[in-house]
Amino acid sequence: MTETSELVIEEGVLPSSDDFLRDALAGLTAPRKTLPTKYLYDAEGSRLFEEICGLPEYYPTRTETALLQTIAHDLAASISRHAVLVEFGSGASVKTRALLDAAPHLEVYVPIDISQSALDEAAESLRADFPDLQVVPLVADFTASHALPAAADGRPHVGFFPGSTIGNFSPEAAGHFLKSALATLGADSRFILGVDLAKEPEVMVPAYDDAQGVTAAFNLNLLARLNRELGADFVLDAFAHRAVWNEAESRMEMHLVSRKEQTVHLGGREIVFTEGETIHTENSHKYTYEAIAVLAAKAGWRIEESWVSDPFPFAILLMSAA
Ligand SMILES: C[S@@+](CC[C@H](N)C(=O)[O-])C[C@H]1O[C@@H](n2cnc3c(N)ncnc32)[C@H](O)[C@@H]1O
Repeated sequence: MTETSELVIEEGVLPSSDDFLRDALAGLTAPRKTLPTKYLYDAEGSRLFEEICGLPEYYPTRTETALLQTIAHDLAASISRHAVLVEFGSGASVKTRALLDAAPHLEVYVPIDISQSALDEAAESLRADFPDLQVVPLVADFTASHALPAAADGRPHVGFFPGSTIGNFSPEAAGHFLKSALATLGADSRFILGVDLAKEPEVMVPAYDDAQGVTAAFNLNLLARLNRELGADFVLDAFAHRAVWNEAESRMEMHLVSRKEQTVHLGGREIVFTEGETIHTENSHKYTYEAIAVLAAKAGWRIEESWVSDPFPFAILLMSAA
């Protein structure tokens, strides 16, 4: 790990362009084509995601933010003095502000994200607004286990995982993540988890397929990124964004659909698409409260308190090591 006072870069766990090419080729040559979700978030992807958060159709951000603001003082009361807040997939760290405002006794903040541009911008703005807070961003893939920066040593640890990012994992991988978060944060830690709960497809589908086409641009940026960074020759207009509710798996899915039969080149390989064939780019699993509670318990977390918003059910769980 390379540590400066400004930024910590976890070596070996951030995907290199070789990893990106290997992962992209593995996904695009599989019988059912896929691309890993984490590659949606380069600088442009992070910018587009922030735009999505402000869209009228995207209920999760405003629902979770409103709930966090309502319960911030309850959450703050559970946070020990001198604690470090460790956020997984922190993006622009907007929701974090509700916690930081309510818990000035938090002394260190470690935002972890795969997108360096998102971390840089968030850190600069937080340092300006919370001058007493030590902000130590960590550029890393949160699916790999990692040591926390030295600034976290000897402090009570509070994990924060909002945005229902946990829904991007399969339930099995979500269980592994929760276990590994417990190992990273330690036995005396607390963990605050935000999870979107299943609701009517009429509400969920537009959230992933908005009228202005911002989610479509976010999804298509993955192909633009393959062109920019790996020299692929995807014609963006030849693919369409599609969002579907998969009832059997209880998840929203994002796909890129080939509008015609076509061949694309990547890393010296030819990738053939039939008309209507899709690349599966993202899952957002939607849980029932009971299902997420069971998953957390199996991973070793005990729910101390929980809140569910209304009318769009979104859960925030305050947990401690069981
Ligand atoms: C759904 S967004 C949520 C952002 C923010 N927490 C919120 O609630 O608005 C997911 C975030 O996780 C980051 N991310 C996705 N996969 C990641 C990975 N494997 N490792 C680290 N960060 C990741 C993305 O860059 C993005 O900032």
